[in-house]
Amino acid sequence: MKKQVVLYKKLSPALMARLQEQYEVTLINSLDADGLMQLRDALPRAHGLLGASLKLDAALLDLAPQLEAIASVSVGVDNYDIDYLTRRKILLSNTPDVLTETTADTGFALILAAARRVVELANMVRSGQWSRNIGPAHFGTDVHGKTLGIIGMGRIGEALAQRGHFGFGMPVLYHSQSRKPAVEARFDAQYRSLEDLLKQADFICLTLPLTAQTEGLIGAEQFALMRPESIFINISRGKVVDEAAMIDALRHQRIRAAGLDVFEREPLPHDSPLLQLSNVVATPHMGSATHETREAMARCAVENLLAKRPLQATQNHQALRICRSCAAQSAIRAQASASFTRSSTKPILICPAALGPNASPARTETP
Ligand code: DGY
Repeated sequence: MKKQVVLYKKLSPALMARLQEQYEVTLINSLDADGLMQLRDALPRAHGLLGASLKLDAALLDLAPQLEAIASVSVGVDNYDIDYLTRRKILLSNTPDVLTETTADTGFALILAAARRVVELANMVRSGQWSRNIGPAHFGTDVHGKTLGIIGMGRIGEALAQRGHFGFGMPVLYHSQSRKPAVEARFDAQYRSLEDLLKQADFICLTLPLTAQTEGLIGAEQFALMRPESIFINISRGKVVDEAAMIDALRHQRIRAAGLDVFEREPLPHDSPLLQLSNVVATPHMGSATHETREAMARCAVENLLAKRPLQATQNHQALRICRSCAAQSAIRAQASASFTRSSTKPILICPAALGPNASPARTETP
């Protein structure tokens, strides 16, 4: 008898067929109240789960006593309680790499949109308010040649640096857990303390994962260090930022503008004060949202499940064994690193124990 996978994300017919070669598949079509009820009903039979954008906490996963693996269609793993998964010996996999370039494109779209006031001015045209040539009141600020500050120099940070350095002639500053000599050499990037980066960069871009260490990293104190010309970009996770402090800084023009793809609460509540601010460009967590990339992510997640045929095959089995003995978390991290190459779309399976609170942003970057 085939094992059961519960999908809480729709797959293309080709990927669905691929998954069904090995598993009995139950599809939960949407995550509305009905869908969540169906999910709760299906969990007791689930050996595998595949999906995204759902907080899978202990209350839900306790309903799935047979669960062996979760394939997340995301690079970020902040929706999972890693300690809980480790205790339950449930393998978690994510989909890094395939979304790097697309997410960096989103970052740059926000940089350009916020600096050149693209959304605000396009709305002006659309609403019939363009009656004469625009003047200084509608001018934006240049992007090319300005200083790009990247906080969290993982793959996405690197892809942003590449765009800034080669495409826009921007000096690149970065802050991350460790120095990145290769990045420094390729993009002339300079390492800064968080404080210095916040003081010196024109564009301050967050590309780091949400962890216990990064939650609330950018608050009132950090916004106070930025300059009135600074533009703040967040393509990581909303909770890395104290949203109230950010709103205050934007409202009082202590910083120039923000381009935000992620928020403390998603979907962003319709009455969020952010939506009242003309110096904010807000997008709906669309970092990786292109047809090509979302399909690549889904394929990667499917392969992650299939690679563990029957949910405990070679590499994963080894990871699981190491997890069980809790003996060599770093060996698993090394294994994950070794299987990653920039041009590869090979999925990486992550043992939960390898994603402890000190997991490096370079390996677990968001989004
Ligand atoms: C990711 O892959 O983590 C994206 O941010 C979607 O959640």
